[in-house]
Amino acid sequence: MGDVRVRSLAVFCFVLSFLSAANAASALDKIPKGMRVNFYNASCPRAESTVKAEVQRAFNADRTIPAGLIRMFFHDCFVRGCDASVLIDNSDSEKLGAPNANSLRGFEVLDAAKAALEAACPGVVSCADVIAFAARDAMELAGNINVTNWLGGRRDGIISRSADTLTELPAPFDKFPTLVAAFKKKGLSQNDVVILSGAHTIGRAKCGIITQRIWNFNGTGKADPAIDPAYVTTLRSQCPQNAPGNRINMDMTTPTILDVNYYRDVNNGRGLFESDNSLRASPGASLLNQFTQNPQTFAPSFVNSMRRMGNIGVLTGKKGKIRTVCSVA
Ligand code: HEM
Repeated sequence: MGDVRVRSLAVFCFVLSFLSAANAASALDKIPKGMRVNFYNASCPRAESTVKAEVQRAFNADRTIPAGLIRMFFHDCFVRGCDASVLIDNSDSEKLGAPNANSLRGFEVLDAAKAALEAACPGVVSCADVIAFAARDAMELAGNINVTNWLGGRRDGIISRSADTLTELPAPFDKFPTLVAAFKKKGLSQNDVVILSGAHTIGRAKCGIITQRIWNFNGTGKADPAIDPAYVTTLRSQCPQNAPGNRINMDMTTPTILDVNYYRDVNNGRGLFESDNSLRASPGASLLNQFTQNPQTFAPSFVNSMRRMGNIGVLTGKKGKIRTVCSVA
């Protein structure tokens, strides 16, 4: 028992030391005014457990659902802040933006949770918090971890524009400096780029995104030379040139587990996107080694960066509103 405690303390100190060294403290580390843990304790005591039950139900039916929910949180928070603008339906909404259309998933889980919440406590729990709670639950399930002190109190926006997804979300062809710039714009750090990219250790991607990279990189008729040749062979067998709609696991070994396999892959030239591969020789590369050598430090770091991400551009207090149906602004 004593041993375990000493070990956890050592891991904690280790995480803390490198996070504070390279993850310059930012406004995102402060609890935004109007947010707190157990936000709905008085107004809707079962808010968080209701979301958790829906996520668990979805997970029981489909082990890949945490990936959809974690990505949903990212795409919500990066575009207009964590305000559930990603869930709004209109003729030109974020859902229709190129990074999201026919790609984001998990909407039905969030809708089911919100419907249960509206039945229990009408008009109280925001869609933005439903996304955030679901992302927390998704991390717990995929990482087999316990995430404590997760904040609530975000409120919902009313604007959702497809064009914003193109200017605010990084692209799979982006290289490290561009990724860092996109994250800095949100108050996140270079380390957050490396840590949050680790989400690509779960979930799947459409072949169309990498067709050029594996078949005709920069018009050469060959694969990107940065990719491990054995991996090219595997990718080509799963992603023939004429099948852009096929979906492949981004981590081919443990695609439903939030582990450090992504970092092993990236270190071995098996990063799926150019953005993933660009971490390899970047100023953030030391973290790749840290995670592969001390795998137990990844989950706490990931949770910490997700926490920071969850504070981006939040609407709290009297700002924003509580949408009754998440798709209707
Ligand atoms: C660093 C820049 C990033 C880029 C360029 C990027 C790009 C992408 C792309 C193109 C896909 C495949 C989507 C599809 O084919 O349908 C994807 C999947 C995914 N991304 Fe990222 N991503 C980035 C960062 C992140 C972050 C920060 C997170 C979350 C913290 C995240 C979580 C995921 C997850 C979980 C999936 C799998 C989704 C699923 O299975 O439905 N990504 N990403």
